[in-house]
Amino acid sequence: MSPRDASVVLTGAAGGLGSAIARRLFEEGACLLLVGRSEAPLLTLARSLSVGARDRSRVDALVVDVTTDAGRAAVIDAAGARNANVLINNAAVAAFGPAQALQSEAARRLMETNVVAPMMLTAGMLPMLLTRPRAQVLNIGSTLGSLGVPGFSAYAASKAALRIYSEALRRELADSCVRVQYYAPRAIDTPFNSPEVQAFNEETHSASDSPEKIAQGVSRLLQSGSTQRYAGGFEAIAARLNGLFPEWLDGAFAKHRRALKSLKFPNGASS
Ligand SMILES: NC(=O)c1ccc[n+]([C@@H]2O[C@H](COP(=O)([O-])OP(=O)(O)OC[C@H]3O[C@@H](n4cnc5c(N)ncnc54)[C@H](OP(=O)(O)O)[C@@H]3O)[C@@H](O)[C@H]2O)c1
Repeated sequence: MSPRDASVVLTGAAGGLGSAIARRLFEEGACLLLVGRSEAPLLTLARSLSVGARDRSRVDALVVDVTTDAGRAAVIDAAGARNANVLINNAAVAAFGPAQALQSEAARRLMETNVVAPMMLTAGMLPMLLTRPRAQVLNIGSTLGSLGVPGFSAYAASKAALRIYSEALRRELADSCVRVQYYAPRAIDTPFNSPEVQAFNEETHSASDSPEKIAQGVSRLLQSGSTQRYAGGFEAIAARLNGLFPEWLDGAFAKHRRALKSLKFPNGASS
C-alpha cells in the first residue's frame, strides 16, 4: 500500500525505531495514530510532525499501555475514528542475561508486551480492517525470533511467538483484504539495548543498523506487500539456515557464551 493511502496505528511510536518509522511514513504522506506509554516524548513527536504540515489532523497521539484491556480498547476506538487500515505492532520490551537470572515479573511483562498485546490489538482491530478495501498488519519481530542466541532466551521466545503468530495469521487471512507482514531487524542503535547488550554486541561483533535504515525497510515492506523481510544479508541467511538445520549452527555460539559469562549485570546475576 502506498503511504499516501495508509492510515496507520503505530505502537511504541516514541521509541527509537517507532519515531523513525513515524517520521518516514509521515514524510511519505501517511496519516498516523501514534500510540505509546510515555506522554512527553509521544506528544513532542506528534507536535514535531504536525509543525509545518498542511493538514495537522494527519497525526494524532494516544497515551496508553498496550498491555491493558482498557489501553487496547482506547486504541481500537481511536483507530476506528481515523479509518485506520494499517496496524504496525512495534512496541516491545527487552530482556537479556543468563537464563537463570530471569524473574517471573519480567517474564510476564515480556510476554504481555511482545506477544499478548500485538495479538489482542490485532484481534480487536480485525473486524474493522476486514471492512476496508485493503488493509495491512505489520509485526516488528527480530532476527532473534528465528535464531536463538545465548543471553536472549526469553526475548527470542517472545519474538519467535510473534513470528509464528504472523505466519499463521497470514495464512488464515490469505483470501481476505488484510495482508499480514513480519519484519525482522538485526540489532538497531536505540535505547532498547542496555549497556550490557551493547558490550555483548561489540564482543561478538554483531552488526547493527540505524533506526532510519530500518524505518526505510518498514516503509518498503508496507509498499511492496511482501510477507516478510529480514534486515542484514548474513543474518537473513543464518535465520533461514537455522530453520532448516538448527544443529549445524550450535557450534557457532562459543564466543557468545564467553561474552555472556564475562558480563556483570546490575542485579548481580552472572552465568
Ligand atoms: N533495538 C534493537 O536492537 C532491536 C532489534 C530487533 C528488533 N527490535 C524491535 O524493534 C521494535 C522497536 O524497538 P526499539 O529499539 O525502538 O525500542 P525502544 O526504543 O525501547 O522503543 C520501544 C517503545 O515501545 C513502547 N512500549 C513498551 N511497552 C509498552 C506498553 N506496554 N504500552 C505502550 N508502549 C510500550 C516504549 O514506550 P516507553 O518508552 O514508554 O516504555 C517505547 O516507546 C521492538 O519490537 C523491538 O523488539 C529492536
